[in-house]
Amino acid sequence: MSTHKEIKKVTTHSLTEMKKNGIKISMLTAYDYSMARILDAAGIDVLLVGDSASNVMAGHETTLPITLDNMIYHAGSVIRGVERSLVVVDLPFGSYQANSSEALRSAIRIMKETGAHAVKMEGGEEVSESIIRILTAGIPVMGHLGLTPQSIYKFGTYTVRATEDDEAEKLKKDALLLEHLGCFALVLEKIPASLATEVAKSVQIPVIGIGAGGGVDGQVLVTHDMMGINFEFKPRFLRRYLNLHEDMANAVKSYINDVKSGDFPSEKESY
Ligand code: KIV
Repeated sequence: MSTHKEIKKVTTHSLTEMKKNGIKISMLTAYDYSMARILDAAGIDVLLVGDSASNVMAGHETTLPITLDNMIYHAGSVIRGVERSLVVVDLPFGSYQANSSEALRSAIRIMKETGAHAVKMEGGEEVSESIIRILTAGIPVMGHLGLTPQSIYKFGTYTVRATEDDEAEKLKKDALLLEHLGCFALVLEKIPASLATEVAKSVQIPVIGIGAGGGVDGQVLVTHDMMGINFEFKPRFLRRYLNLHEDMANAVKSYINDVKSGDFPSEKESY
C-alpha cells in the first residue's frame, strides 16, 4: 500500500484502502482557489467545500442561508486549485430536504457545474431516499451524522450530540444504513469519542471525525479555525496551528504605517 503522498489522485477508493491499511485520512475545508492550491500542494487527502462557508466566508451565524449557487461558486473555485485531493461539496440546506428529485437535481448541478468529485449530505434515515437517488446517478455521497449544523434550530445548541442512549442508538443505526446504501464515507461531528470509535469499528467505510476523538479513520477541521483566522471560535476539539488573525492584523498595521509615512513604495518598488 502506498503512503498518502504517493497517491497521485485521491479517490473514494483510495480512502477505503487507507482505512483498510490503517492510514489516517486528513481533511480540511476550502472555499477558494488560492487556499485550495496551498492545501492540495501540502498533501491534504480530502478538501471539503463545506457549507461552513456560510459562517467563515459570508459571516452568517448559521449554515442555513448559503445557497446552492453560492456553493457552486465556491466549489468551482476550489476545483481549479486542486491536482491531487478528493473534493467533496456540501449540499446546502434547502437543496435536498424537500424530496429526492430536488436532491438529485442539486447534486447533478454541483457535479456538472463545478467538476467536484462527491457530495456530502447531513442526516440518516430521513434523507435515505435522496441518497439512493443520488448514488443511483453515479454520484458518490459522504454522510454526516452527530451534530448536523443544518438542524441547529431543532437541536437548539451546538453542544455534544448523542450522549443519551436513544440518540446514540439512532446514530449507530444510521451509520450502518448509510454504509448499506452505498455512501463512501461518513463524517461524525461532536459526539463522544467512545461512540465514534464504536461506529468506526462497525462499518467498513472510512469515518472522519470532528470533535469525535481519535478512534476514527480520519479528522476534519474548518481551515479558518485551525489557522486561527477565525479567532472567536474556541471549541475543545479545535487545535490551532497558526495565529493568522494576529499575524495578518500586524501585517496590515505595518502596511498602513508604511503607506502613511511614505516608506512604501520605495524607489526599488517603483518603475
Ligand atoms: O461545513 C463544514 O465545514 C462541515 C465540517 C465541519 C465537517 O460540514
